[in-house]
Amino acid sequence: MVKICCIGGGYVGGPTMAVIAYKCPSVVVTVVDISVQRITAWNSDQLPIYEPGLDDVVKQCKGKNLFFSTEVEKHVAEADIVFVSVNTPTKTQGLGAGKAADLTYWESSARMIADVSKSSKIVVEKSTVPVKTAEAIEKILTHNSKGIDFQILSNPEFLAEGTAINDLFVPDRVLIGGRETPGGRKAIKTLKDIYAQWVPEERIICTNLWSAELSKLAANAVLAQRISSINAMSALCEATGADVSQVSHAIGKDSRIGAKFLNASVGFGGSCFQKDILNLVYICECNGLSEVANYWKQVIEVNDYQKRRFVNRIVSSMFNTISGKRIAILGFSFKKDTGDTRETPAIDVCRGLLRDQAQLNIYDPQVPEQQIHKDLSMPKYNWNYPFHSVSMCPDDLKQVRVVSTAYEATKDAHGICILTEWDEFKSLNFQKIYDNMQKPAYVFDGRNVVNVEKLRQIGFIVYSIGKPLDPWLKDMPAVM
Ligand code: NAI
Repeated sequence: MVKICCIGGGYVGGPTMAVIAYKCPSVVVTVVDISVQRITAWNSDQLPIYEPGLDDVVKQCKGKNLFFSTEVEKHVAEADIVFVSVNTPTKTQGLGAGKAADLTYWESSARMIADVSKSSKIVVEKSTVPVKTAEAIEKILTHNSKGIDFQILSNPEFLAEGTAINDLFVPDRVLIGGRETPGGRKAIKTLKDIYAQWVPEERIICTNLWSAELSKLAANAVLAQRISSINAMSALCEATGADVSQVSHAIGKDSRIGAKFLNASVGFGGSCFQKDILNLVYICECNGLSEVANYWKQVIEVNDYQKRRFVNRIVSSMFNTISGKRIAILGFSFKKDTGDTRETPAIDVCRGLLRDQAQLNIYDPQVPEQQIHKDLSMPKYNWNYPFHSVSMCPDDLKQVRVVSTAYEATKDAHGICILTEWDEFKSLNFQKIYDNMQKPAYVFDGRNVVNVEKLRQIGFIVYSIGKPLDPWLKDMPAVM
């Protein structure tokens, strides 16, 4: 019986291992984490992350062939395959601060694996890591290995939060990279046999280690680039009277382009896109490829511009002052169907509004109050972006009220900002909302979810990203 241990029970480790256990009843899977709080939650009925369909999968396997534990060393020692799915955030200080991936958690996991292992193991990189990380990991493992054979595989995860279970059940592809040696090939086959229990063989791609590591960074960079491309177009649409949804539909019909990931919005967020592009930029710089580094950096700069542009529109359309005005923030997570707020555009937009002295009523169906307060008061890493460099003083949080319904958030507000595309925002009773707001009442739709015409008939002044401007906004051009 194959024993798998996964170090790191977060957004990736938890769902991925739950699905492996579900699809492979003969494999015993144990997820270990140093966070007692997370493991306690996995062992309870209130899982630590919100992901549609996850509860069911976990319920069916937990206690049978899926276990969650804080006894990290014991389970690593017993495993045949060790997945490492720990966090790899952007470095906040030292060499490469603000760009390079911080591999502290990864390295300490590798050292621990080397320390506790008494039998041969396959060590799988599940976390997104810089290309060539496997080489460093191999050195750590073999240096301390007491003659034990370790094979390193790169098996980056392509799931997206909010659709993780479906992405894992029916993946577009599974990517496995390994050494091109007999030992490496054997290890690739062992992992491939696990995925092959539910993934069609033609969807399992086997490559060398470096291609697998780089493909994950490249995939995220290209996905984020599509969003920045359409967001850059949205600014031009507003300036010319074109409608970004029509443009996106028209270009997406081209089979060479395709329709996905072409929705204009207030900007991308999430724990991966920005961090992985920064990391790619850093790797390019380290290899003396400054033109390539600048090319990818621009994807992030457009994303920051888009958030700034959104705030500027709000301020300018409200007579250039939002001081003391109440603004309802609908949605705080970085996208719908997740409670994850890492790098959510809502943080930068709220900070921008708070700097102009607005009062905020924030509502999100999945993000707890405590998390919102933490996100708004935590200084971000120091990179040279105006939005990121500013840390909040706790006083600003007095201007923030977290509420439990969209109706409560919008009561007596001057304006509404929609920052996450939660389905429930599409079916709100906007007449009721309008009646309870200050006038003129504004809607700033950062996700293009509302029916603009209907809202204008009710009496709202509506700004939708990349759409022909409301006559009101035309008279009040924003400084971009
Ligand atoms: P996360 O922060 O949710 O989970 C990481 C977990 O690792 C935490 O619970 C932490 O306590 C644990 N951990 C850290 N050091 C440890 C150690 N030494 N021993 C045991 N546990 C330890 O992070 P998430 O989102 O799951 O991401 C993990 C990796 O997967 C990252 O490299 C990320 O870039 C990548 N990834 C994330 C995706 C996402 O949608 N979140 C998608 C694809 C890849």
